[in-house]
Amino acid sequence: MRKVIFDSDTATDDTIALLLALKNYEVLGVTIVAGNVNFEQEIQNALFTLEYFGYNDVPVYPGARRPIMGEWRTVEEVHGKNGMSDWNYQTPSKKPESEFAADAIIRLSKEYNGELEILAVSPLTNLALAYLKDPEIVKRIKKVWIMGGALSRGNTTPLGEFNFWVDPEAANIVLKAGFDITVVPWETAENAATLTIQDWDKIEKINTKAAKFFVYSNRQLLEYSLKTGERGSVHPDSLTVSISIDSNIIKKSEKVYAEVETCSKSRGAMLIDWYKLLNKKSNVELVLEAFEDKFKKMLFETLSAN
Ligand code: BDR
Ligand code: CA
Repeated sequence: MRKVIFDSDTATDDTIALLLALKNYEVLGVTIVAGNVNFEQEIQNALFTLEYFGYNDVPVYPGARRPIMGEWRTVEEVHGKNGMSDWNYQTPSKKPESEFAADAIIRLSKEYNGELEILAVSPLTNLALAYLKDPEIVKRIKKVWIMGGALSRGNTTPLGEFNFWVDPEAANIVLKAGFDITVVPWETAENAATLTIQDWDKIEKINTKAAKFFVYSNRQLLEYSLKTGERGSVHPDSLTVSISIDSNIIKKSEKVYAEVETCSKSRGAMLIDWYKLLNKKSNVELVLEAFEDKFKKMLFETLSAN
């Protein structure tokens, strides 16, 4: 079984992405980073998700409680005050580990040298810190899957997607480090991973433990997304994990050189050298289009089976 670390600012869609990972990989740990909501709450959300689905043995490692350089804001309007659409779930009995997330990433990359993959569906602070402490991790980590960046339609600022906007310095460090990276940007998810009201109706009818979990934890995301003009709730983290599981979900991708802007109003923007003007070797595979039907099939099957 493939071995992964799930790096997350655990809230709404992160939890469904985590469920997909748990069902398809050996998840060696969940690392938590500052992002969507209050940091302690993100830890609780991860612990609860693991406990709910019976994965009490998967460790949760708290990581960076803030971005490396800048300031950020949490987005309770998207995910609810507790990041779980205000679902008043039972306090988990499971506890987080004392090891710092970046240290856990370094340690596990040694224990699973050449095998470990990172599913990064959050700001990249933890991975950047791990790399800064031990640059050799680039050689030991097999693959990094990133949800982040926008092609042009930022969801947080006009050009900035949330994960890259929260910590653009970290995103830059990771993109330039030399990892084998696939990036799933915001618009790809908007187009292929939006769950419409009809999809929600279907999920509500599935009535399994997982489907109930989906509905309770993602309600606020649906409400917020509809308000902002989306066709339904957008699930970029789940799409990223599904693509990592089955690359046939990718419809179109391009190898490009990309960096992240760290200045002023365009902070967090992904700078893509489409025309190879910079003469640099490509550093990411950018997923431009994904198959909506294949993604939804995987998601619905997962929600039905659990
Ligand atoms: C990303 O930002 C967060 O709000 C979501 O969890 C997702 O990872 C989308 O821009
Ligand atoms: Ca996330």
